[in-house]
Amino acid sequence: MGDKVASAVSLHEVEQVYPNGTRALMPVSLDIRPGEFVSLLGPSGCGKSTLLKMIAGLLKPTAGRIQLSGQQLSFVFQEATLMPWADVHANVRLPLDLAGVPRPQADGRVDEALQLVGLSAFARQRPRELSGGMQMRVSIARGLVTRPRLLLMDEPFGALDEITRNRLDADLLALWRQQGLTVVFVTHSITEAVFLSSRVIVMGARPGRVVEDYALDNPWPRDDDYRTSPAFNAHGRHLQHRLSQASALTGDAP
Ligand SMILES: Nc1ncnc2c1ncn2[C@@H]1O[C@H](COP(=O)(O)OP(=O)(O)OP(=O)(O)O)[C@@H](O)[C@H]1O
Ligand SMILES: [Mg+2]
Repeated sequence: MGDKVASAVSLHEVEQVYPNGTRALMPVSLDIRPGEFVSLLGPSGCGKSTLLKMIAGLLKPTAGRIQLSGQQLSFVFQEATLMPWADVHANVRLPLDLAGVPRPQADGRVDEALQLVGLSAFARQRPRELSGGMQMRVSIARGLVTRPRLLLMDEPFGALDEITRNRLDADLLALWRQQGLTVVFVTHSITEAVFLSSRVIVMGARPGRVVEDYALDNPWPRDDDYRTSPAFNAHGRHLQHRLSQASALTGDAP
């Protein structure tokens, strides 16, 4: 079973039926290799968050098996969920405090994480003094401070305006390449998935399931020119078509 060793995340026939009887996911099997940037793309209610929470170990599958290759993981939520009374530095340090990392060592790691997200100059500010985009950066720094190999992100930029979102997408992509991370990223934005991903898992709702596993290998690196390129449009059209097909099966709007 050499494949298993090579996978960062391996899902085998994973299902979720919530206690109230809602079947959130049909059996899903998926192998994610180290260094992939995988987006889970699909309409509201198709089970993206459910799947991500199961990968994170926050929710136990009703059936099936999940294996991670033992690497440190971090989870970044849709809201920044920062402590309003604490400054940026203390917010980012939280996971290290919880893990009992000694203060001087923790402070060094916080500085490093803040540098990665371009917030070194804001370490002593309170969250409310920052824009929404900067707060999300703090949240990402808090995710990076434990030096994860696997980053799980649930619509982290969904609440931001398009320009800010595009900028954070570009920053995230640079970080991913520079750090060699494995990322699993939830979104319902086709353009965001096309910009970021090396692979898109298209999901359909009712019941939640995978409808396509789509590789987007080229081009790299990606910049603003990519957003207006024929390749970008072709990928977007393809994914739009798949999503429409998937929702037509259940009579939902795309
Ligand atoms: N704790 C729960 N108990 C019962 N049903 C739930 C629970 N959490 C989610 N569901 C249901 O499971 C399905 C999948 O939900 P999930 O949150 O995973 O979807 P999603 O794809 O993340 O949607 P969105 O894009 O709106 O965030 C939905 O039908 C939802 O109502
Ligand atoms: Mg969700």
